[in-house]
Amino acid sequence: MMNTKTLKTKIAAVDRWEPSPYVISRAGTIIKQGGLVAFPTETVYGLGADALNPGAVRRIYEAKGRPSDNPLILHVDCIAQAAGLVEMNHLAYKLMSRFWPGPLTLVLPAKPKIVPEITRGGLETAAVRMPDNKIAQWLIGYAGTPIAAPSANLSGKPSPTNAETVLADMNGRIDMIIDGGSVKVGIESTVIDITNPEHVLLLRPGGLSREVIEEEIHMPLEIPDSQSAKRSPGTHYRHYSPSVPVKIWHRDANFPECEYSSAGYIGIHKPICATKRVILFSDYTDYAHGLFAAFRRLDKDGYTCIIAEWPEEISGICEGLRDRILRSAGD
Ligand code: TXA
Ligand code: MG
Repeated sequence: MMNTKTLKTKIAAVDRWEPSPYVISRAGTIIKQGGLVAFPTETVYGLGADALNPGAVRRIYEAKGRPSDNPLILHVDCIAQAAGLVEMNHLAYKLMSRFWPGPLTLVLPAKPKIVPEITRGGLETAAVRMPDNKIAQWLIGYAGTPIAAPSANLSGKPSPTNAETVLADMNGRIDMIIDGGSVKVGIESTVIDITNPEHVLLLRPGGLSREVIEEEIHMPLEIPDSQSAKRSPGTHYRHYSPSVPVKIWHRDANFPECEYSSAGYIGIHKPICATKRVILFSDYTDYAHGLFAAFRRLDKDGYTCIIAEWPEEISGICEGLRDRILRSAGD
């Protein structure tokens, strides 16, 4: 296997509202030439390559250590570009017009001659999304190609929400990191399968809530059962985990402090017994925004266990937040 830790990774900081065209065009050229560039989106940082170049996409899997049957999202900067990659249906136009740019990824039948098999992880469908971040949109524009991008972390680790954590995982493995500051949402996009517009499947809860999607399509999102081939391949793997164990605390249960002498706690309510370090968020949106960064900080500071408060609510961002907490705990 190719040694992936040999590159000199360049880092360039840009203003998120007024990114430097010089920096973004340089990054676009790297993508066009088959290189790897990490960039901010509104959800988490992505690790991008030319989605239509199989050799470039192979390098993403190598840099992340990701199983190659786990397909990538193709990032686009307009609906017309998506329509060149997947077979559109009426729901696709409706959802894209209403929620793009934004944290909603749509799975549709791929145009097989256009989207390489490696980008689709061997599936007949492909996932498309238009990120709500100017840096990401300009990068796609300058590259002149859709950009395949998973989250820019080593496979299984918490997704990066700032450039420092991208560097911690990817230094020497990729060509460039565009530092656009901290992201807005903090957890990844919601992924839905609209291949059959009569039965819309929620493959991964995320940044866009189930309620607003259901209101738009006037039907409930269905959850594929665990045996279903329709299940999102990425959800088969343990995910989002720091190297120390994550335990879940339900507010009505005893706080498990005594069992874990060096635990850090994260949540929105202060636990009755104080642990050695408490990271409190102002609400669930803030909790989702800071979850992965908190995991990484406590991990780095040497805590032997992280206790994460279980969100009492289920609606809004909480469905995605619950999913990430559960999966980081490996439950
Ligand atoms: O917010 C996000 O979605 C971020 C940013 C960078 O855009 N990206 C991201 O990518 O989270 P990744 O690769 O970490 O997660 C993509 C998810 C995986 O669970 C994958 O299995 C699923 O989307 N996926 C991609 N293509 C699919 C397809 N054709 N059918 C079913 N699931 C698919
Ligand atoms: Mg990921």
